[in-house]
Amino acid sequence: TILVLDFGSQYSHLITRRLREFNVYAEMLPCTQKISELTWKPKGVILSGGPYSVYAEGAPHVDHDVFKLDVPILGICYGMQELAWINGKNVARGEKREYGPATLHVVDKSSPLFEGVDNSIVWMSHGDKLNGLPTGFKTIATSNNSPYCGIASETKPIYGIQFHPEVTHSAKGKILLKNFAINICKASQNWTMENFIDTEINRIRTIVGPTAEVIGAVSGGVDSTVAAKLMKEAIGNRFHAIMVDNGVLRMNEAENVKKNLGEGLGINLTVIDASEEFLTKLKGVTDPEKKRKIIGNTFIHVFEREAERIKPKDGDEIEFLLQGTLYPDVIESISFKGPSQTIKTHHNVGGLLDNMKLKLIEPLRELFKDEVRHLGELLGIPHDLVWRHPFPGPGIAIRVLGEVTKEQVAIARKADYIYIEEIVNAGLYDKISQAFACLLPVKSVGVMGDQRTYEQVIALRAIETTDFMTADWFPFEHGFLKKVASRIVNEVDGVARVTYDITSKPPATVEWE
Ligand code: XMP
Repeated sequence: TILVLDFGSQYSHLITRRLREFNVYAEMLPCTQKISELTWKPKGVILSGGPYSVYAEGAPHVDHDVFKLDVPILGICYGMQELAWINGKNVARGEKREYGPATLHVVDKSSPLFEGVDNSIVWMSHGDKLNGLPTGFKTIATSNNSPYCGIASETKPIYGIQFHPEVTHSAKGKILLKNFAINICKASQNWTMENFIDTEINRIRTIVGPTAEVIGAVSGGVDSTVAAKLMKEAIGNRFHAIMVDNGVLRMNEAENVKKNLGEGLGINLTVIDASEEFLTKLKGVTDPEKKRKIIGNTFIHVFEREAERIKPKDGDEIEFLLQGTLYPDVIESISFKGPSQTIKTHHNVGGLLDNMKLKLIEPLRELFKDEVRHLGELLGIPHDLVWRHPFPGPGIAIRVLGEVTKEQVAIARKADYIYIEEIVNAGLYDKISQAFACLLPVKSVGVMGDQRTYEQVIALRAIETTDFMTADWFPFEHGFLKKVASRIVNEVDGVARVTYDITSKPPATVEWE
């Protein structure tokens, strides 16, 4: 196992992710971890990047006992500056921030760290820099802007690099991390998703103990389904899944979840129909952020009430709340003082913990989406569920633009159903990252039979993306669009016109609200 000490960089978890890609297990702990309190001995330590300045008052520093472990150490960005600070304090603010690509020039060609990575593009993101060599170190690589792009101890396997090998923009970064973990640390390559399942199940059993019960919401989406199935494997019926029908779910969703998760996967599931409650609260509301808040708060309210009702009869307490949080959600919800702003508020269950005095359990916290899908497949979750497009928490409420009423939801839902059905029939579902129909709050003139009509407009959206941060629209064949449009206007009352959204993200977002 490699120990990653996290100094708060938004890329820190990518380090563990990259190591997993060549089957090396890494555990990430906060940079403040006391080394004497570790219950295991790492094969090597990586000090991550971070948003601070090592010389600033209150900046985080590593426990110096890390050097007593006598294992290889790699400092990345802030981690390197930390090594330099400890060994002579040669760190200062650079004249300008360096952000973006640079070419790595390896000076010490015999360094095992740089085998196969010379002259590659590396990704820089720093404001501070070394203004001299740390005591006992030598330069092993440079870049145009950074004379100390790579440093190494003269006597020990301690390395520092200014760039971020963990991001994909560093072309050979993965090779560098592999060099460090395998050639330098001699870490074993035995991490697999199968092992992850065993370890995670054991971890859950240890955390939850022999009697406590766990509650968690499921939505029918991939993440909560995989998390729920893992809990079921770990503690059986002591895990209680709750599905809240908020009235803005996809067509037949509550029944489908009952069938797939309850019957199919054997998860101890309660489905609550709270649709009237949600729709009543949404009455008259048109602002998207208000809709999100109302749905989030109502969800918490309903969930708490239902959790009270399903209190286990044998007197055991519900002590834990399961959440299918993935790593990208973790990054998103840690708001640094830096430039990352909330564009839309996505996550809405945080309040449960405080109100219900529950402890959080997040078995997917370290994983990325594709890893979760792999995990889901290994857990025997059907393909269609594992590869389902994401669906936003506020559901169709943010796809009915303007006021959300039962009638409007029914129109949007039916159009969406037809659209998705045609996508599946055309064999395109797995090629598209996300597709849905939106109901626009405008009326448009049409003609049906001999009648002039004046009805609403459906906008179809389909995007391709790897991370949902940027996205492009999906290039359907015209014949496909023609068929979907004709089915929607013919089969959905209240719609007289269909359009296809051909904007990318940015400047548009995936959802319309
Ligand atoms: P945007 O519209 O921000 O969408 O480009 C990116 C991804 O996030 C989903 N999304 C949400 N998910 N609650 C959610 O759980 C929300 O409020 C929300 N808004 C957007 C969207 O469906 C897409 O997958």
